[in-house]
Amino acid sequence: MAKRALVTGGAGLIGSHIADLFVREGWEVRVLDNLEPQTHRRGKPRWINERAEFVQGDMRDRDTLAAALDKIDIVFHEAAYGGYMPEIAKYVHVNSLGTAQMLEIIRERNLPIKKIVAASSQAVYSEGAGECPQHGVVFPPVRPVEQLRKGDWQVHCPICGVITKSVATPEHAPVGGETVYGLTKVDQEKLVLLWGKQIGIPTVALRYSCTYGPRQSMFNPYTGVIAIFCTRLLNNLPPVLYEDGEQTRDFSFVEDIARANLLAADSDKLDGQAVNVGSGCGTPIREIAEIISAALKIEIASVARGEFRPGEMRHLTSDTTKMNAIGYKPQVDLAEGIQRYIDWIKAQSDVRDYFSEAENILKSKGIIHRVEVMNA
Ligand SMILES: NC(=O)c1ccc[n+]([C@@H]2O[C@H](COP(=O)([O-])OP(=O)(O)OC[C@H]3O[C@@H](n4cnc5c(N)ncnc54)[C@H](O)[C@@H]3O)[C@@H](O)[C@H]2O)c1
Ligand SMILES: [Zn+2]
Repeated sequence: MAKRALVTGGAGLIGSHIADLFVREGWEVRVLDNLEPQTHRRGKPRWINERAEFVQGDMRDRDTLAAALDKIDIVFHEAAYGGYMPEIAKYVHVNSLGTAQMLEIIRERNLPIKKIVAASSQAVYSEGAGECPQHGVVFPPVRPVEQLRKGDWQVHCPICGVITKSVATPEHAPVGGETVYGLTKVDQEKLVLLWGKQIGIPTVALRYSCTYGPRQSMFNPYTGVIAIFCTRLLNNLPPVLYEDGEQTRDFSFVEDIARANLLAADSDKLDGQAVNVGSGCGTPIREIAEIISAALKIEIASVARGEFRPGEMRHLTSDTTKMNAIGYKPQVDLAEGIQRYIDWIKAQSDVRDYFSEAENILKSKGIIHRVEVMNA
């Protein structure tokens, strides 16, 4: 079995937990991370595993990448620029080009990499699967902006137009990417899978659901709803819900996601595939705000102001049949996971709200929209 792992983005939420798990499993682990300032406003985090080799460097830098890949058996590719920021070129540069460059270096230098497990995302889907009473399971396209402007948040059957019921989304659902971030996650998984087949290196793309847990950046107001709601409430500010707050997401605790990486590394059953990793349960975002407010004992109701982000899906619950077949079973439920995040964030100093400022930026850049007519 392979014994030397490179974890790109290994200072971040998921990467740092993958690094910890593989160190515990007896692997030699190298972390490559540029400590993206948006995520790491206070510099190098304390949690980078002391038994891992830490390389501060950028996925966009060829020489750094080549050095980081030296004498590595398996790559866990977690580094990415994420969220809803307005920087189009940076997403493409870091996520798409960074991945392409890594693959190119492996081929050019004939590096003896035995496997690549790449972080993809549920953001590759357009809308989650829906069920129509007449047409069964359907895969609706992204909801048009004109529909959202009218305050109609529902997902309609693409054939007859009735409102669909959200059902678990399987991997064969159409993949598009309706945000720039989503588009680059499609790029990443397609590049890795396609290239792996051409070159004969086993590759897997794991489409993570919304992942949260200790170490999730409390500085990044553009991504991570649980972290954002916690920092809002701890600053006595209301969590802001987009749409009506009834949209649902599938949440995964970060340690479960790290275990999914271990399973994918150890098995060859998922090779060449994009595979969902999630809990299989959908939770409304409004409920997330309520759970956090109750756990923090800060009674501030969330607000929904008729705002929405075009391209954002209404419901997404992952069909995890494939992942479960290799022994995946989430071990930390939402209540326990949120409590563990709260315990962690309460132990951090100076928890500030960065959301208000970010919100203004997103509004001025046209990323957050508002309904024209509010629904009664
Ligand atoms: N957290 C989620 O909900 C979620 C869901 C689906 C997919 N993912 C994917 O999982 C991966 C890890 O996400 P995360 O939640 O741990 O995010 P994170 O922001 O906590 O970690 C990403 C890490 O990558 C590093 N990084 C960013 N740009 C880099 C660059 N140019 N060079 C080197 N390092 C760079 C950052 O400094 C950070 O430490 C990403 O690929 C992300 O797209 C995350
Ligand atoms: Zn129908």
